[in-house]
Amino acid sequence: MSQDTFPIRKVDHVRFHVGNAKQSAYFYQHVFGFDITGFAGLETGQRDEVDYLLEQNDLKFVFTAPIRPGHPMSERIAYHGDYVQDIAFEVDDVDWAYETAVARGAGAAREPFTLEDANGTVRLASVHTYGDTLHTFVNRDHYRGHFMPGFAARNEPGDPIGLIEVDHCVGNVELGKMNVWVKWYEQVLSFTQLISFDDKDISTEYTALMSKVMSNGNQRVKFPINEPAEGKKKSQIDEYLEFFGGAGVQHVALRTTDICTVVARLRARGMQFLHVPKNYYEELPNRVGQIDEDIKELADLGILVDRDEDGYLLQIFTKPIADRPTLFYEIIERKGAKSFGKGNFKALFEAIEREQALRGTL
Ligand code: FE2
Repeated sequence: MSQDTFPIRKVDHVRFHVGNAKQSAYFYQHVFGFDITGFAGLETGQRDEVDYLLEQNDLKFVFTAPIRPGHPMSERIAYHGDYVQDIAFEVDDVDWAYETAVARGAGAAREPFTLEDANGTVRLASVHTYGDTLHTFVNRDHYRGHFMPGFAARNEPGDPIGLIEVDHCVGNVELGKMNVWVKWYEQVLSFTQLISFDDKDISTEYTALMSKVMSNGNQRVKFPINEPAEGKKKSQIDEYLEFFGGAGVQHVALRTTDICTVVARLRARGMQFLHVPKNYYEELPNRVGQIDEDIKELADLGILVDRDEDGYLLQIFTKPIADRPTLFYEIIERKGAKSFGKGNFKALFEAIEREQALRGTL
């Protein structure tokens, strides 16, 4: 094994900038089953914005909203809609990570600084990646408290449904920019390319896209990067770029070890998923061979299956979760497979195109 020249432990948290953090927190608590575990705002001495911390197993989501007119955050939220603003990494050494990333060409967003309270210190620094997205480096090895100084503990349980961690986070970038950002992750964060797809792999009658999957040294952080390719009509990536207003996070994949239960419960709570045509399941046994799950149950729930040389995976995609056709979620269960569901792309994109046609954006 070659030396990891940019050690990242894992995704620490995902931060969203939203118009109304209280209602976002309610949605993620009641639909996805997150616990609300922390809060910062007026009551804790934070005068200009609020933060809600939500957790489920190893997942930490932070919802941040401005609470005063003219707050600088408001302009970006008005432009993009609610969006993933930061994918934060836990690292051994924040100062080293920041200085190295900037020396290797990352845009500086916030120099290293320390947050402190009676429980100790947390060190943080941030760099810019594609669009308005940041990567914050976090280290809390000298902190005995929960999450970060500034957050007051909250205990509002949300009936967790078995979501474990971020499996991967997908970025959509502009036409011709995929290789620019692939190079950025290689040069700045020492990521390596796991897989690439081109428009021959991922095309339907209407949609084409290119994708490369980048991963950090310990392979716990996986970032597919998509760009649109020429198609007959507007691709889902073009649609995203138009409605988001540039490059940004397209979907976050959440890993579980019991996808059937997770999806059944999400459906019962009103989550909507992309519709999979019935004939998908007629072809499934031939395509993926023997699997543990009952195909009838998978068909009833709309769960997709794909196999690679290491095993198979089960996955499903939600419809966009806010007003714009931008951010959505994937739920994924891995049974050995390390890939991303290439065999499902065609069926999936045809499903997305049916939704696009309804929106008049195909
Ligand atoms: Fe995905």
